[in-house]
Amino acid sequence: MNDSVIKEPATPLSAEKSKAKTNVITEENNDAYTTVGQAFSEKAKMSMRDVDVFYGEKQAIYDVNLDIGTNEVVAMIGPSGCGKSTFLRCLNRMNDTIDTCKVTGKFLLEDQDINDKKMDVVPLRARVGMVFQKPNPFPKSIYDNVAYGARIHGLADRKSDLDDIVETSLQKAGLWNEVKDRLQQPGTSLSGGQQQRLCIARTIAVSPEVILMDEPCSALDPIATARIEELIDELSQNYTIAIVTHSMQQAARVSHRTAYFHLGKLIEVNETEKVFTNPDHDLTEAYITGRFG
Ligand SMILES: Nc1ncnc2c1ncn2[C@@H]1O[C@H](COP(=O)(O)OP(=O)(O)OP(=O)(O)O)[C@@H](O)[C@H]1O
Ligand SMILES: [Mg+2]
Repeated sequence: MNDSVIKEPATPLSAEKSKAKTNVITEENNDAYTTVGQAFSEKAKMSMRDVDVFYGEKQAIYDVNLDIGTNEVVAMIGPSGCGKSTFLRCLNRMNDTIDTCKVTGKFLLEDQDINDKKMDVVPLRARVGMVFQKPNPFPKSIYDNVAYGARIHGLADRKSDLDDIVETSLQKAGLWNEVKDRLQQPGTSLSGGQQQRLCIARTIAVSPEVILMDEPCSALDPIATARIEELIDELSQNYTIAIVTHSMQQAARVSHRTAYFHLGKLIEVNETEKVFTNPDHDLTEAYITGRFG
């Protein structure tokens, strides 16, 4: 995938098409942009409103409004640098760790404001877990990687309870059969695809409500990717998932709705099938047909 940042709105937009479609970004309406499609959900697990994000003086996200529905998988796509990771990180306050980063707007997890002073980020990040692009097992055994969060959050009183959590999480992550006889070996001794499933098991072990995934398969081969995609499908029975991906095939395979970002703006959100077959916005169409990105 091309790493360059798109600096200009996509061209060409034929005059006829531009007229037919709404919300084409121009210099004049740049700040007043409104997302097209269906950005909201009747059963919202998370609701984001009027979100702006700045790194120092530089604005990275412009007035984004989006719901993520309960047990829904929402894919976030768009050219490199368009703000997908920045937006995703807002959802469990990972941007708090970046000094220059300023986030404004409202973020509700059900009816709780996640930026409320009373909201502690540790339990928040247990409720809204994150899986990163590069598998990042702790330098601990397979067992201890999965048990880590459960120990911190005091989820198991007895060793047998912790054993149960570790086994169930590894099973849900589709890794149990491959590691059950080597639980005391280091997490880093696993293959890349296994490490990513280990990280998913570690995330699941604290019973999150929402799982954020930032390009979780980008370091994996097609077989490991297929396993993670199957897993996302299974996990969506019980969890709400937001996944950033550069693979449009992956977005099409795993998600219910797809959100297309461009230059920090949320251009379009629609049912995934619609986004990939008949998008509402020219910029979405240009991206999915490979004209840029
Ligand atoms: N820590 C940071 N400090 C300053 N600017 C940042 C920081 N992180 C991201 N940015 C800027 O914010 C914008 C959005 O970046 P972000 O990483 O969210 O994009 P992305 O859509 O996830 O891109 P990619 O597909 O390459 O991962 C970019 O212009 C980027 O340079
Ligand atoms: Mg990113």
